[in-house]
Amino acid sequence: MENVNAVTARQDLAEGTPAGTTRLTAPDAPADGSRFDPSDTRQAWARSGRGTVPGRPQGILRLGHVDVTVTDLDLTTAYYTEVMGMEVSARTEDSVYLKCWDEEDHHSLRLRYAPRVGMELMSFKVHHEDDLADLEDRVTRYGFPVDRISRGESLGQGESIRFATPSGQLMELFAEVEKVGASRPRSQPNPDAYGPGHTARDRIAPPRMDHMLITAEEVGDSTQFFMDVLGFRITEQLLDGNGHQLGTWLERSHSPHDLAIVHGANGGLHHFAYWLDDWDDVRDAADVLAYNGIQLDVGPTRHGITRGSTIYFFDPLGTRNEVFTGGYRPDPDFPTLTWTEDNIGRAIFYYEGELNDRFMRVHT
Ligand SMILES: [Fe+2]
Repeated sequence: MENVNAVTARQDLAEGTPAGTTRLTAPDAPADGSRFDPSDTRQAWARSGRGTVPGRPQGILRLGHVDVTVTDLDLTTAYYTEVMGMEVSARTEDSVYLKCWDEEDHHSLRLRYAPRVGMELMSFKVHHEDDLADLEDRVTRYGFPVDRISRGESLGQGESIRFATPSGQLMELFAEVEKVGASRPRSQPNPDAYGPGHTARDRIAPPRMDHMLITAEEVGDSTQFFMDVLGFRITEQLLDGNGHQLGTWLERSHSPHDLAIVHGANGGLHHFAYWLDDWDDVRDAADVLAYNGIQLDVGPTRHGITRGSTIYFFDPLGTRNEVFTGGYRPDPDFPTLTWTEDNIGRAIFYYEGELNDRFMRVHT
């Protein structure tokens, strides 16, 4: 039965100003009106500690890292380094931490040995440390318990909060993480746009992680949570004949999606996706996958939803990966695009116009 407090909190959150924000109504302009500079006001406000800095970005920034469990650490590490082209940033007794070459943060993927394959955690980075307290308050008011994870408990990472989403995935938010720097030659100042390892033809070598897709029995409830509580904006939705959401695409980083939710079992991971710079890189990725005997799931093709170009494939233990490029840039006033179930094939795979059964059924 639904928690009454959660319903009330949801209404408060949907209608009100986000918790922890303070509206600045009038700058403290000098009396003679001659020396007013908006940047002075921003800096003064920041120093005052009185509240949110006007214009300062808040809340969730982007997908930080995906933590998955694997039954063979050596095999998956070999795949994610030698085929995918990620780099190992740390190893512990039970885990390998990996990052893409253009990522500065400690890792974007953690592989942890466990008896079964699955998703352990999806972790998003927030802009500032005080966003954690704000979002902790919002999740708690929604009716979900929140755990605080202290600095250092997660390798390379500062304090974080963790909670279960309505569909049962464990979600983490963190602000601080060790910066290990981009791995390939990217000299500062005046970085190169191209260099050894950026486009290694024997590895996919994506510059960064991009987004992930989870499954939920009640897509509408989950979507409401991510929007009302965590501040995600919805770019696209797929509706059934009764107007219920079968899938939603949500963003925080002005990309077509940082997170998507599709109908399926609670707690599931459908895939996580790497960014590639353009269609040529997608074609090269297909060559690398074929050369290495990696089973393709779908593609190369294009999505109707997001308009992105894509390939889906599986790592050696069956976790679905994607490489993705293209799509539009949604500003906060971007209208939500709607697809109907009778066009689900074109929505997901625009060229083929139909889904394969495996794509709908298989997740970890
Ligand atoms: Fe995707």
